[in-house]
Amino acid sequence: MITPKVPHIIYGGDYNPEQWPQSVWAEDVRLMRAANVNLVSVGIFSWAKLEPQPDEYDFGWLDRLLDLLHENGIMANLATATASPPPWLARLYPESLPVTKDGVVLHPGARQHYCPSSAAYRERAAGLVGRIAERYKDHPVLAMWHVNNEYGCHVSECYCDASAAHFRRWLENRYGDLERLNEAWGTAFWSQRYGRWDEILPPRSAPTFANPTQQLDFRRFSSDALLGLYEMEREILRGATPDVPVTTNFMGFFKPADYWKWAGREDVVSDDSYPDPSDPEAHVLAAMNRDLMRSLGGGNSWVLMEQTTVRVNWRRRNAPKEPGRMRLWSLQAVARGADGIMFFQWRQSKAGAEKFHSAMVPHVRPEDSRSWAEVKRLGEDLTKLDGLSGTRGEARTAVLIDWDNWWALELDSKPSADVRMIEGLYFLYRPLFEANVPVDFAHPGSDLSSYDLVIAPNLYLVTDEAAENVRSFVEDGGTLLMSFFSGIVDENDHVRLGGYPAPFKDLLGLTIEDFVPLAEGATGCLATEEGASFSCDLWADLVHLRGAEALTTFADGFYGGMPAVTRNAYGGGSAYYLGTRPDAGYMGVLLERVCAEAGVGAPSEAPPGVEVVRRRSTEASYLFVLNHGEEAADVELEGPTVDLLSGAGRDGTLRLEPFGAAVLREW
Ligand code: GLA
Repeated sequence: MITPKVPHIIYGGDYNPEQWPQSVWAEDVRLMRAANVNLVSVGIFSWAKLEPQPDEYDFGWLDRLLDLLHENGIMANLATATASPPPWLARLYPESLPVTKDGVVLHPGARQHYCPSSAAYRERAAGLVGRIAERYKDHPVLAMWHVNNEYGCHVSECYCDASAAHFRRWLENRYGDLERLNEAWGTAFWSQRYGRWDEILPPRSAPTFANPTQQLDFRRFSSDALLGLYEMEREILRGATPDVPVTTNFMGFFKPADYWKWAGREDVVSDDSYPDPSDPEAHVLAAMNRDLMRSLGGGNSWVLMEQTTVRVNWRRRNAPKEPGRMRLWSLQAVARGADGIMFFQWRQSKAGAEKFHSAMVPHVRPEDSRSWAEVKRLGEDLTKLDGLSGTRGEARTAVLIDWDNWWALELDSKPSADVRMIEGLYFLYRPLFEANVPVDFAHPGSDLSSYDLVIAPNLYLVTDEAAENVRSFVEDGGTLLMSFFSGIVDENDHVRLGGYPAPFKDLLGLTIEDFVPLAEGATGCLATEEGASFSCDLWADLVHLRGAEALTTFADGFYGGMPAVTRNAYGGGSAYYLGTRPDAGYMGVLLERVCAEAGVGAPSEAPPGVEVVRRRSTEASYLFVLNHGEEAADVELEGPTVDLLSGAGRDGTLRLEPFGAAVLREW
């Protein structure tokens, strides 16, 4: 259960009543009830209405609105309204505006126009949050706090003088003295040695490549600067309402914020997710995001805080979700641990930049709209899933992700700029998704003992502790699959000498002499032990075996005959290594072998295009069966069950229509 105030699967959306005359509110709550909405996020962008002039507050409208929700049994995820400062903040404190790397000031007129290190923003935001918390702490509709909105979405870093000073304080705290900083940043290179703290700047636009560790530390700092704002608000809210859960909405695999660190400071993880309906693999990417959200919360249930009913407004061409897709993707989120399904937004705006972004209540009359019918249907579906509360996923496979590694991997000046974190991760996630193997994400330094299989995509930056953690996982009997360009640098982005990949040579039973980045569009040939051939691209490692066996070798290039994919028995387990990026055909074959060796697999058989996910507790087990295909699909059931959505008993063959879904109670 996400919040004791809503002892059900949460259903609702962002509600922005300040955009509408009060005469519309009554219609809003009537429609909310018709759709089984039980929670709305209120006030996210209402700072200018709540505090029209500095220290002049107007809470009357919000009092009336919350009372109206209360009369109608709808709870509030009350926002702190700090996401978009009113114009007066910039007028009184122009230095609160963010500045880009190139020195451009970002002005008011859109949203999120504040520097994360601005003292004025911080003080004014704290004042507002304190008043909101004080005023509404005992209001019966208060179910959850929604802090700010999508921290860092538009402005994730600022290069102004206040940010520079804040960055220096952060560095002093990290390094203590300048000598340590000079050492960590490798400033002997290009005469970059710092003699005084005030010589240090954020990595502003410079003649050429900025110092990599300076860039890496600035990423760490920028995530922490935003996190500091979140924590400032959270402390105020905690002080007023120690028992009301606090969240801030994440954005999936969002590079600027280290969500492992952030999630640990939230009561509930929540996410905003806008898969592109015109992307045939959108549901796979969506599944990957949902698995991340569940994992960030340590396996606890999370809330899909925002999605769209039909269309967004911010792509070049905003394809709609066809009928049925919104329901299917929402149920996918529930399958993967969400106990709340919400939308941006409740009522489609009449004015402003998002007026063509779909909402639960469309511009046209709801009764004339298929999307409203779908909103009502989903609301009703979710009322049938209360039993899921307390059930969890059952992954025994973990994919490693570490923001430090992501940041370092994608800095400039690498053998190939095309080795990208999320692509590398997706490349390994996708065949697991297709095989319906349940997957968690994990930090490389975290406890891996509950997993049988660990996948380490492009683990370029690795600390000594994390390297040891991965090693001992295999020693203790685990199976590892690691992809190329792993174990290359330490936490300062300094190369680990002694032969690549220094911390993993023994574990993998090999050394790498050098890397061969493949030209754009170029492919190579792979030959397997069994005589089959496949293709590869992007990268080739020059691997020398030191105990590992070659499963596949390169069949062309000056390195033809050298190992491309290897396996090494190590301790009680085994370590596979991918020294290139093979094609999907090979990856399917390899992952089948790796999964079989690790003893991990799908919860049940399913035809291609059908996703099968289990959630269970000690008392109950539910199987989600989701047909992402455009054809009907037949799934063979292992025994008689009941489909909670239709209420029908099922046995034998379950036929799912295109975009059809079933939630089967197994026991
Ligand atoms: C984000 C924001 C919302 C809205 C949507 C539009 O998720 O949080 O306020 O702008 O995008 O897709």
